[in-house]
Amino acid sequence: MQEQTQGGAASDAALGGAEPGAPRAVVVGVPRESCPGERRVAATPDSVRKLVQKGFSVVVQAGAGLGAACTDATYADAGAQIDDEGRLAWGADVVLKVRAPRELDGGHELDRLRRGAVLSCLIWPAQNGELVQRLADLGVTTLALDQVPRISRAQKMDVLSSMANIAGYRAVLEAAHHFGGFFGGQITAAGRTRPAQVLVIGAGVAGLAAIAAARGLGAEVRAFDVRASVKDQVRSLGARFLEVDIAEDAETAGGYAKTMSKEFIEAEMALFRAQAPEVDIVITTALIPGKRAPVLWTREAVGLMRRGSVVVDLAAEQGGNCGYTEADRTVVTPNGVTVLGHTDLTSRLATHASQFFATNLVHLLDELGNTALNVDLANEVIRGALATHAGAVTFPPPPVPVSAAPGPVAAAGPAAVARPAASASPTWVLGGLGLSLMGVIGTLAPPEFVQHFTVFVLACVIGWQLIWNVTPALHTPLMSVTNAVSGIILVGGILQAASGELSVAAVLGAVAVLVASVNIAGGFLVTQRMLGMFKKEG
Ligand code: NAI
Repeated sequence: MQEQTQGGAASDAALGGAEPGAPRAVVVGVPRESCPGERRVAATPDSVRKLVQKGFSVVVQAGAGLGAACTDATYADAGAQIDDEGRLAWGADVVLKVRAPRELDGGHELDRLRRGAVLSCLIWPAQNGELVQRLADLGVTTLALDQVPRISRAQKMDVLSSMANIAGYRAVLEAAHHFGGFFGGQITAAGRTRPAQVLVIGAGVAGLAAIAAARGLGAEVRAFDVRASVKDQVRSLGARFLEVDIAEDAETAGGYAKTMSKEFIEAEMALFRAQAPEVDIVITTALIPGKRAPVLWTREAVGLMRRGSVVVDLAAEQGGNCGYTEADRTVVTPNGVTVLGHTDLTSRLATHASQFFATNLVHLLDELGNTALNVDLANEVIRGALATHAGAVTFPPPPVPVSAAPGPVAAAGPAAVARPAASASPTWVLGGLGLSLMGVIGTLAPPEFVQHFTVFVLACVIGWQLIWNVTPALHTPLMSVTNAVSGIILVGGILQAASGELSVAAVLGAVAVLVASVNIAGGFLVTQRMLGMFKKEG
């Protein structure tokens, strides 16, 4: 079901300078972040340019991008209106922010939103029930960016992944800053040093980025994760994957980890105690969504580390993976280990963090149909992120199947209407049409033609059904299979074209050879490029 949010009259006529009576453009507002230490911004001059091209009017609060090196002048050049007070930015039809609205001295920021507006920012609705209820009462449609489902189709809108990637990279730089040595081994006239030993706990998005960054600096890296499925990814980045002897299935349908048994955690801790004397840097990223982070690198393990070692705990905001972690503080333990509990790693790389964040938001607006602002409750990405809509709290959403294969997602919430359960699928419509056509042709055409036509119709139905149901994760192998199919077509085409006479079949054969060759060459090229993305340089 699609619903359009109310277009409002809150924005000043000054916006866009529309002729009297002309339809007013949908206004996107970008207020300044008020959270201390937050340097990211939800739109960059580049993303503003894209939004203007898509038909939005954009208002940016003065100074909103300064922390990310985006000046007001660059926003103005990109087509935005600069708003000194933030009244227009907050009163826009669509408000883009990094952090959720907060209580300030002059009142709560959410009171600056107008009824019917769309607010898109990080909300963490499970932890901020009161704020979410207030947004619902205000009639605001809230898209919680932290709730975008982790399915392949939604990757381009997945703010958590793009931010975790940055945090993992920055964690390595922070560790390097506090570590008194090289990451890569050195052999010089003045002596030789061994490469730094880095352990990454939790090889999700942040962990994998940390592995890549540490390897890039020349360190020797080992990693541990409860999800065995990441083993190959860890290895492909040049790190060693550590394992425990207990077999336990850790992966949930959503691709995240589940809470592990007591026995598993004990075996993991024993592994870490054995690792502690060997490693110089530990980067912990272990997290189970919605839960307090498990304490995995205990005070005992820290006590076994060498003086001068560094622990960077990315999970500091969720309580921390290390026994010594204090959020936003640097702790030096009695045995001289530095434990960093930064929760602002993405803000420390604000320029690129804002660029990624803003691009994720442009894609999210695409999903809303841009200026149409269609809140399609059957769209699993929109439904997943929707925290409030039409005056009601719509969090939590119904579970999403892990496969991104297109299919009806049951909508929930007061304003939701489920898709018809048994709508006729295109395959059966196609099959039905084919059979009726065959019936007609059977009475008119020669038997040989009917036989070929039957094979053709069956191939269409089976091919459609097969490809439609392949999960996106298998699209690359699928491409190789279609290449093989094209190979068969190529052989058939050559046989027809080489018949020696200029018949319709020979011409069609030649066309088939041409099209199949393009398909094969293109398929190999794309597969090659995709495989190249997973190869290490050098
Ligand atoms: P993710 O869910 O992709 O990765 C977490 C990984 O931890 C998963 O692979 C999971 O299997 C693993 N894990 C769970 N329990 C484990 C256990 N007992 N032992 C070993 N591994 C375990 O999460 P993502 O996106 O990589 O984020 C990682 C952490 O970084 C989160 O805590 C997130 O909040 C934090 N983060 C911190 C930032 C900062 O500035 N400090 C910025 C961005 C993210």
